[in-house]
Amino acid sequence: MTNPDEKIDVFSEARKIWTPPEEVRLRAWVSDYESVYQKAVADPEAFWSGIASELDWFQPWTQVLEWRYPWAKWFLGARCNITYNCLDRHVKTWRRNKVALLWVGEDGSSQVLTYGELHRQVCRFASGLKTLGIKKGDRVMIYMPRIPQQFVAMLAVARVGAIHSVVYSGFSALALRERIEDAEAKLVVTADVGFQRGKSIQLKAVVDEAVEGAPSVQHVVVVRRQSPPIEIFGPRERDWDALLKQSSAICEAESMDSEDPLYTLYTSGTTGRPKGVLHVHGGYMVGTYITTKWVFDLKDEDVYFCTADPGWVTGHSYIVYGPLLNGATILFAEGAPDYPDPGRWWKLIEQHGVTIFYTTPTAIRSLMRYGDEWPASHDLSSLRILGTVGEPINPEAWLWYHRVTGERCPIMDTWWQTETGMTMITPLPGVPLKPGSATRPFPGIVADVLDKDGKPMPPNKGGSLVIKTPWPSMLRTVYKDPDRYEQYWRSIPNVYTAGDVAYRDDDGYFWILGRSDDVLKVSGYRLGTAEVESAIVSHAAVAEAAAIGKPDPLKGEAIKVFVILKQGYTPGSELREEIKAHVRHTLGPIAVPSELEFTTSLPKTRSGKIMRRVLKAKELGLETGDTSTLEE
Ligand code: WT7
Repeated sequence: MTNPDEKIDVFSEARKIWTPPEEVRLRAWVSDYESVYQKAVADPEAFWSGIASELDWFQPWTQVLEWRYPWAKWFLGARCNITYNCLDRHVKTWRRNKVALLWVGEDGSSQVLTYGELHRQVCRFASGLKTLGIKKGDRVMIYMPRIPQQFVAMLAVARVGAIHSVVYSGFSALALRERIEDAEAKLVVTADVGFQRGKSIQLKAVVDEAVEGAPSVQHVVVVRRQSPPIEIFGPRERDWDALLKQSSAICEAESMDSEDPLYTLYTSGTTGRPKGVLHVHGGYMVGTYITTKWVFDLKDEDVYFCTADPGWVTGHSYIVYGPLLNGATILFAEGAPDYPDPGRWWKLIEQHGVTIFYTTPTAIRSLMRYGDEWPASHDLSSLRILGTVGEPINPEAWLWYHRVTGERCPIMDTWWQTETGMTMITPLPGVPLKPGSATRPFPGIVADVLDKDGKPMPPNKGGSLVIKTPWPSMLRTVYKDPDRYEQYWRSIPNVYTAGDVAYRDDDGYFWILGRSDDVLKVSGYRLGTAEVESAIVSHAAVAEAAAIGKPDPLKGEAIKVFVILKQGYTPGSELREEIKAHVRHTLGPIAVPSELEFTTSLPKTRSGKIMRRVLKAKELGLETGDTSTLEE
């Protein structure tokens, strides 16, 4: 075998165009992107209300949009519940006995849930939630592995009108506690363990530590997977199965105002504190419904497989809500892409006849390193549409993904964010593709590239990626922090600033280059330099720290930190490992830096702000740019 790294480092063929076969375009829900886009731009309210009309509402809206810059409301006066459209709408039809969920655990266990069965379980858990005193507007934390009960928990919380906040199970107890406290959550739903690469991760133990000293938490519900089952001790703990058994399978979906909150999801920004991005029932439902349908050309006969974790927004919008709103059959898998071997996902695709496959550039790059033999030894002919999300995909990884899956499937490189709720810049199945470009905006979305004064950048010049008009699934606010919400629309007046650098080429195709702020994208995970730094500085030996992202051929970006020790501490490999372990404990394994360098000074402005830009330029051997404000 050749050196695996060689396959990744060459950046060539960047401007190649690939046009999907004509039949892909013709069979798609949208076969004429241009005219659909133009029609939507000409009358966005008619466009979005037309789409909303495909769903069921308890009461129709009286106004499509109210835009009081920077605050938006969609489908005013309407009443609905997203779970009614995910479940009840289907169980009233032949889809009642259609497979909703094909679940495979890492330990080889599996479960198949029809829409009828999923509906019953959600209703039971929703009834159970009510007996635990959960009502409309309450916050419920979900800290679970990728198991069917995670779906059930999310949907049941939404069904009773409460607000879920899913925390990725790779976060530490301290990170979980911080989120529980911010949300003032009344309930935490968890499991005894998750499985990852053959190891069991003790989730319940993390929750125990997190809820200690979190007075808002009244109950903890535990799914017990292990046998013999772990003991449930405290007075506030409840067993999932027991709760379901004693609860009614009849529980009508709460009638919600379309603007009532559905969930908050914590994400990293430029400060040390994560922000609770808030989405609502009505607009979010409309946005995720139509993007799932059109971007993946989702049809009833498809088997849809998205490898994300519901701990992140991709899982919310494109594992749970979007696919269920469309009545899809969803393959949901626990575990890593390369365990027990790098053929894991290809094997699942073959076994279940997956037709739509949505994953991340990091996963593709890692599978690419293992070589062609893994995909080649599986029958992947069922695949018809592919997708990627979370970070820019380098053309080499794109071309590999395309080639090993048979060179016939279009790849949907979907650009979006936790805040946008739905895919914003994305191909539709029939459009000509350029490897590495997310192509053009979804119909109804007006995107642009501006300079910092709000002036449009000419083609091929990088600038700030913005969205110029409100859209239904946009975040409504940052939980308990309206100022932080307003910043999205005020940093360049009148437009939503995404925080990404991008350019448009001569054909109007968007190329996303990466973040323009202090947000890192490590394996597609979003982390703030400030969060990593504050975790490091909380170690007793550390006086100051600065974190930067370094380009990494596999992870996209890798974290490097510079650390100044307090007087009396000596740099050394033992201390280095200890600090890394401290980050793991404070934030979680995903935030552990891959490089840690001890230093005695950091570049700062006169006002004392660390100039990470200077550190990064030095690290990469680049020009440092304007350093006139540099003090040290
Ligand atoms: C950031 C948002 C959206 C679901 C997962 C990530 C980067 C996302 C792409 C893409 C280039 C991308 C951006 C964005 N990003 N998709 N297709 N091409 N970059 O959600 O954690 O909120 O992160 O991910 O930098 O701002 P998120």
